[in-house]
Amino acid sequence: MSLKVVLVAGARPNFMKLAPLWLEMNRLSSAFEPIILHTGQHYDYEMSKVFFEDLELPEPKYFLGVGSGTHAEQTGKTMIEFDRVIENEDPDLVVVFGDVNSTLACSVTAKKLLIPVAHVEAGLRSFDMTMPEEINRKITDAISDILFTPSKDGDENLIREGIDKNKICFVGNIMIDSLIAILKSIDQSYEDKIFHKFGIQKTNYVLVTLHRPSNVDDRNNLLRIMDFLNTLSSKIPVIFPVHPRTKKMMNGFDTSLDQNEAFKIVEPLRYKEFITLEKYPKFALTDSGGIQEETTYLNVPCLTLRPNTERPITITQGTNELVSLGSVKEKADLILKGSCKQGSPLELWDGKTSHRIIEIFTKWSLRK
Ligand code: UD1
Repeated sequence: MSLKVVLVAGARPNFMKLAPLWLEMNRLSSAFEPIILHTGQHYDYEMSKVFFEDLELPEPKYFLGVGSGTHAEQTGKTMIEFDRVIENEDPDLVVVFGDVNSTLACSVTAKKLLIPVAHVEAGLRSFDMTMPEEINRKITDAISDILFTPSKDGDENLIREGIDKNKICFVGNIMIDSLIAILKSIDQSYEDKIFHKFGIQKTNYVLVTLHRPSNVDDRNNLLRIMDFLNTLSSKIPVIFPVHPRTKKMMNGFDTSLDQNEAFKIVEPLRYKEFITLEKYPKFALTDSGGIQEETTYLNVPCLTLRPNTERPITITQGTNELVSLGSVKEKADLILKGSCKQGSPLELWDGKTSHRIIEIFTKWSLRK
């Protein structure tokens, strides 16, 4: 009998974590019956569908269409809809990824219906309870049956919180599986096409992504960020694919979107395009979790505009540095002068995380 597994995705960073596992389970179809469920937390074409295309994923079997709203609305709607799916499918296992509202909503719903839950990317902690993601992570980890950690600090955090260590499996970073796969598909002519499309020169630009509420929901902060980027673009071209949340705030605060030629504000990019641009910048400026990890893997300097990170290994062993609005200019100037951090390869960030997870699921299903 094959193991019926519902794989839950909701927001953009979930798709590249789900893909390697689905591909592997689909290959082993006598042992697994994987079902993709998309909650619809992210729904714009550039935030969702193009990722399924680039990651070679099929259409989800279930699309819950929950959309945006307050945290309570989004979480509540997801729970109501997911409850029906669980009743309908009666799966052996639900797998959730990362730390978004869909992760929390579906893990809680499944557990209350007595369905085992596995959490991929468990154990990360920013120790900042003002971040919705930290709440999502802690609750999901507290109730999950199998916790897959991307780095050893994740194991330590979980053990400190009293999680049974037999539930914790250090498997490495599954996002790197997708990164390695997409890198293989990017050749010289694709790169030339992308750099031509955006009118920038390889190795001479800065890549920016910012969407955290703490950076973009406050008018003053957002204006200071835009001002900094505008000034930076007089030294080096800046490309800024704008997340819908940031765009909404920019429009609401009446921040002009039309900047100078060297300050390129563009729509969210598809996965393959973004990774191409992530390979060669002088540095990336971000507040995203995934980009801190990808730049570490790619050995690209990364400045993270946050007071903390749930991914400290990208600082201690990688290319990442935390900056504030007060320090970002100085750090950026240092990198532009050639002084930047070098990273080292991270343990089990090797493209084989999905294999390790599958092996663990196989053993787990035999024990059941
Ligand atoms: C969510 C995750 C965050 C993750 C980010 C990646 C939570 C709490 N946050 O934040 O951890 O880093 O995704 O992108 O789960 N919108 C659109 N189109 C879309 C999606 C959103 O226009 O397809 C707009 C809506 O106006 C919405 C806003 O963006 O209100 C924010 O979306 P939401 O899903 O609430 O949170 P994110 O900021 O995207």
